[in-house]
Amino acid sequence: MKKLSTPYYLIDEQKLHENMEKLAAIRNQSGAKLLLALKCFAAWGVFDLMKPYMDGTTSSSYYEARLGYETFGKETHAYSVAYSSEDIKKVSVFSDKIIFNSLSQLEQFYPECRNVTCGIRINPGVSYSNFDLANPARTFSRLGVTAMTDIEAAMPMVSGAMIHFNCENDDVAAFEQMLAGISRKYATFLERFDWISLGGGISYTEDHFDSQQFIQILKNFSQNFGLQVYLEPGEAAVTHTTSLVTTVLDIVENNKKIAVVDASIEAHMLDLLVYRESATFQGTVSQGGFSYQIAGRSCLAADIFGEGNFQNELQIGDTIMIEDAAGYTMVKKNWFNGLQMPSVALMRTDGQIDVLQESLYTDYKKSLSTQ
Ligand SMILES: Cc1ncc(COP(=O)(O)O)c(C=O)c1O
Repeated sequence: MKKLSTPYYLIDEQKLHENMEKLAAIRNQSGAKLLLALKCFAAWGVFDLMKPYMDGTTSSSYYEARLGYETFGKETHAYSVAYSSEDIKKVSVFSDKIIFNSLSQLEQFYPECRNVTCGIRINPGVSYSNFDLANPARTFSRLGVTAMTDIEAAMPMVSGAMIHFNCENDDVAAFEQMLAGISRKYATFLERFDWISLGGGISYTEDHFDSQQFIQILKNFSQNFGLQVYLEPGEAAVTHTTSLVTTVLDIVENNKKIAVVDASIEAHMLDLLVYRESATFQGTVSQGGFSYQIAGRSCLAADIFGEGNFQNELQIGDTIMIEDAAGYTMVKKNWFNGLQMPSVALMRTDGQIDVLQESLYTDYKKSLSTQ
């Protein structure tokens, strides 16, 4: 076994398996098809573990569509806020369905989509999101068609639609209420569609989520309109499966103890910074213990992962495991400050660690210029 140096993202096979079992229960009992949202998680080295439980992938670009086709297989859905003509030529090779964001994109590219099923994204004007930044129904949102006349005009070209209206929604009652509103508003179209994707952003693998009620809602919706329902889990598929494993490089003090680790929030867990959220750490206690701020080593003044009360006093060289580091992390890692990019590793159920990816100085250099 190769010794892996920190930092690295460590995917736990057992935990991934537990999430997959939850997804499979929803899929089997509701009849919905599940497509992994590659924008959230695209570490394809573990796709063999996910494939038996899911129906394919959904993408946001040509690269993602191609990656999904090549590494996951099954059904490949494509959606992008805007395609170029070049994109469509390439995306249509790898996709079963292309979902267009606007009527003008659909009208422009429909003639080139002869062998592909087309859909349209509808923006229902309602959403569940605690973050304006990620709210698809935010004021002046460009995400999807809002006018009924545009949907009517799209009907001869499409057999279905995508309505993504949730972000980290763990409230089944809120989901049910919004879907009921959507059902009323778009009944005339839903009756004519063959399929509908309800997008991602629903926390159905969290323990407190009422999955039985969710299954019933999906079944009723699908039966009422005779629709094949798709879900596009990203975060739900991989939440709680992965840690960012780091080493304490230094401990400094400025009115509090600050442990500096060999990673960076900006470069390696960017979403925490974007959404102003705090990381959680393994080995902490809710009260008592030894209090530290865990900070990154980039030059950014607020490169701070979060605060934690650790069971033991931290020492230089200690390992800090930053939790929940799968979704929107590896896909967003960057070379800020030229920092060593975390490797990606998989911890097998027997404890063996397989290295899926390692970045070198040459990758950094190549990412900026090749001559
Ligand atoms: C269209 C669409 N589908 C799926 C997802 C995946 O969402 P999540 O990772 O929150 O499940 C997103 C996330 O923004 C999305 O925009």
